Amino acid sequence: MKKLETLISERISRRELLKRAGKASAFIAAASVIPGEFYERLGAAGSKGETGQVFFTPIDPSDKDELILPEGFRYTIIRKWGDSISKEEDYGFNNDFTQYLPIDLPEGGNNSEDGLLFVNHEYPSPLFINNYTIDDFKRNRVKTPEEVSREKRSVGFSIFRVKRMNGDWRFVDDAFYNRRVDADTPVRISGKAAESQLMGASGFARGTLANCSGGLTPWGTVLSAEENFQDYYSSEYPDFYRWNDFEKEYNINHYGWVVEVDPFDKASVPVKRTSLGRFRHENVAIAIGPSGKVVAYMGDDKVNECVYKFISKDPYDRNERKNNFGILDEGDLYVADFENGKWILLDHSANDTLGKEFSSQAEVLINCDKAARLAGGTECNRPEDIEISPVDGSLFVTFTNNSTKDDYFGSIVRMVEEGGNPESTGFTWEVFATGGAAAGFSCPDNLNFDKDGNLWVLCDVSEKRLNKEEQRPFKNNSLFMFPTSGEHRGKAFRFAAGPLGCEMCGANFTPDGSTLFLSIQHPGEDSLSRDEPTSRWPNFGDDIPRPAVVAITGFDKKR
Ligand code: FEO
Ligand code: CA
Ligand code: CA
Ligand code: CA
Repeated sequence: MKKLETLISERISRRELLKRAGKASAFIAAASVIPGEFYERLGAAGSKGETGQVFFTPIDPSDKDELILPEGFRYTIIRKWGDSISKEEDYGFNNDFTQYLPIDLPEGGNNSEDGLLFVNHEYPSPLFINNYTIDDFKRNRVKTPEEVSREKRSVGFSIFRVKRMNGDWRFVDDAFYNRRVDADTPVRISGKAAESQLMGASGFARGTLANCSGGLTPWGTVLSAEENFQDYYSSEYPDFYRWNDFEKEYNINHYGWVVEVDPFDKASVPVKRTSLGRFRHENVAIAIGPSGKVVAYMGDDKVNECVYKFISKDPYDRNERKNNFGILDEGDLYVADFENGKWILLDHSANDTLGKEFSSQAEVLINCDKAARLAGGTECNRPEDIEISPVDGSLFVTFTNNSTKDDYFGSIVRMVEEGGNPESTGFTWEVFATGGAAAGFSCPDNLNFDKDGNLWVLCDVSEKRLNKEEQRPFKNNSLFMFPTSGEHRGKAFRFAAGPLGCEMCGANFTPDGSTLFLSIQHPGEDSLSRDEPTSRWPNFGDDIPRPAVVAITGFDKKR
């Protein structure tokens, strides 16, 4: 990790530094690539909170092959699959989580026109990347090493600079920041399971994969959630991507973790934080408790799995960001018991059932889903995203659907910690919204709040169900705004509808709320051939569909 001063001096010419020397001390104190105010706002109560105003004309459901927005809004493609990030690196496939990170200049402010964009890439398309078809899969065709390598390079993270110039957002080819992390990048393994024999001896994992949603920390790092890790290297599951056809030296225990990365330091090594447990991580939402401890809320996106929270042992250091880089390694993991409104501690030595079943806390963490259910965690209808209201600190959790329990449309649940304290072991909850034809939305997935406390909900009807039978009324997957107070509380207002076959993800606002970044993931996912894809968004003509991250503008004119 470079020192802050080094970073600053590398970015500003010596002449510029000399020119500013007169106010050098103020400059060092104020100049930061990490604007504290923006990151510290996370989970804090007391935003201005003018929720409830529907400031756009909601759109109708759409089955067009286009990203449709209300009047007065427009989108710009920032990067799409096939574009480059740097001289050597390309933007990945199936973009998912988006996080805008303002770069503050010495003049200050939470810069909403110049920042970094962190985007992760969940999974590859063997068809569009390699022309590896469903028929190839069915007849068990072995991929070539080059095909595997292309798929491995298409997942992980893209980190790059973006700037708004003359009203338009542009990708910036900035060698100082821009980088890829992929399925071959060395990633350090840290936390309570790191030393276990089950993790091997190297202390490193080969890359990161299956990254779904994520979260931002108050110290300006990004957390990315490894979700369906079972599809890549495994003998215990169907080997969908066949990455182990040639690579026999994999360790499946190296995947299914939360990965922390410092987007401002290109040389930094990403870290898998094992104290947060191993499961099909959807996301992480961070709160700071009254004693300063860091609380991380997480969902396990699998049918009949659980909601978790981790409480750090140490308090967060507001003054020195790098002192927080290991804070997620020490602390306690809990699972939610919705029947009794309790958080149950998952501790090998304190819980007899876990003590009998597992030989160590590391084993509990590696087999977290099993441990959670044994300890009494409530089986849920596929927990997806969790976000914390900036107005009152309550938690919003999406349960996307669960056909095994006849829940086809999902719901959004609001949880309130006892005494409003994220460190508490008790909570209450209510259903905030239930999906269905009357409500107008189905299968909620990613969440995000705007600065006024409105909840933005991205829906993910799977491409097999999309525009069919009970999912027909909703048409293409859409983005909705839900006021969280006032007369429209809990009602869905459709803001965007995606192109054919896609899921939209991310949805992250700039600090001033003027721009929304959005991932368009897997357009044309049900295509059987590259010649006849079911979507041609965004290039149209003869092109194949391309996942892309877009910037949506127009919010400043409407509010
Ligand atoms: Fe990758 Fe749970 O969505
Ligand atoms: Ca998701
Ligand atoms: Ca989110
Ligand atoms: Ca989903």
